[in-house]
Amino acid sequence: MDSKRQRVFSGIQPSGSPTLGNYIGAIRNWARDQDRFDNIFCIVDLHALTQPRDPEELRAKTWELSAILLAAGIDPDRSLLFAQSDVPAHTGLTWLLTTITPMGWLNRMTQFKSKAGSDRESVGAGLYIYPVLMAADILLYHTNCVPVGEDQKQHVELTRDIAERFNGLFGELFTIPEPMIPPVGARIMDLYEPERKMDKSRPTGAISILDPPDAIRKKVSRAVTDSLASIRFSPEQPGLLNLLTIIQALTGKSEEEILEEFEGQGYKAVKDRAAESIIEALAPLQQRYRDYERDPDQVDLILQRGGERAREMAEPVLREAQRRIGLRRPV
Ligand code: AMP
Ligand code: TRP
Repeated sequence: MDSKRQRVFSGIQPSGSPTLGNYIGAIRNWARDQDRFDNIFCIVDLHALTQPRDPEELRAKTWELSAILLAAGIDPDRSLLFAQSDVPAHTGLTWLLTTITPMGWLNRMTQFKSKAGSDRESVGAGLYIYPVLMAADILLYHTNCVPVGEDQKQHVELTRDIAERFNGLFGELFTIPEPMIPPVGARIMDLYEPERKMDKSRPTGAISILDPPDAIRKKVSRAVTDSLASIRFSPEQPGLLNLLTIIQALTGKSEEEILEEFEGQGYKAVKDRAAESIIEALAPLQQRYRDYERDPDQVDLILQRGGERAREMAEPVLREAQRRIGLRRPV
């Protein structure tokens, strides 16, 4: 990795199966931009623990997400890919940071309020501490940029506040990270509720990255459209617009070229073309995913090596933080 490039840290929760929206809006861009940034991709399994889940499922989803990222072209020789729980420094630094994080800062976090809902007294304390663990993830690697959606921006701002407080109390140690809100690209919507974004938490209206061709054809053929019988890119026809957007995002064609292709045709032609574009775009990824499935240890080995490299980077930073804060110096 080249030290002159900006270091970008992405944390991805292994919850649910990634969708076509994740692929178009995030994963394929990460693979494409690998040489522009010094990238760290961290599967944040410890964060996933803050919501109730089945142990075997969490383990399986961690493997699945890692294999999907690799199959999408994340190259472990150019980017660092690892699982958060393989690097104890993340929890080690979290504790130190909790001691300098005022309760008031955490009380302002909107994600905690929305996830805890009316259950504030019974949710695990981990959900409350969640943003401090996220701060530790980011600060251990001297991260410059953190690509996040609007919902996570507040957590990156908290990370900056915690880093500044630590640096102020104990001397400059942490790099102050910037949130990087990705430029608005194609937003892929739910096939059956096109006014909501396609999301892994609502699998019915979502295409999963690993869906086989038949499932893709079936889901797309049932996508909601309208009765206007007019093919154009118009927000008044959100279902149709979504299908056209998918075609555009996956084929790289212009609006004019796409509309020309459908002249004199009906919505069925658009659905067929959308389904085939998705199948074609995901085929190479799915093929590589199946190769990993036949040799699952390969993925575990990549994670293991990634974990070793991540520990080499993170441990000295944790040790320095421990020393600054007054803990015993190891002999
Ligand atoms: P999430 O699954 O919401 O945690 O999002 C992970 C990443 O995928 C973020 O960078 C999002 O911008 C992107 N993403 C998620 N859903 C969509 C969608 N429906 N359309 C486009 N991008 C998406
Ligand atoms: N909280 C993030 C989310 O839910 C995931 C995450 C954990 C993260 N640690 C991170 C994202 C560090 C960026 C950097 O999407």
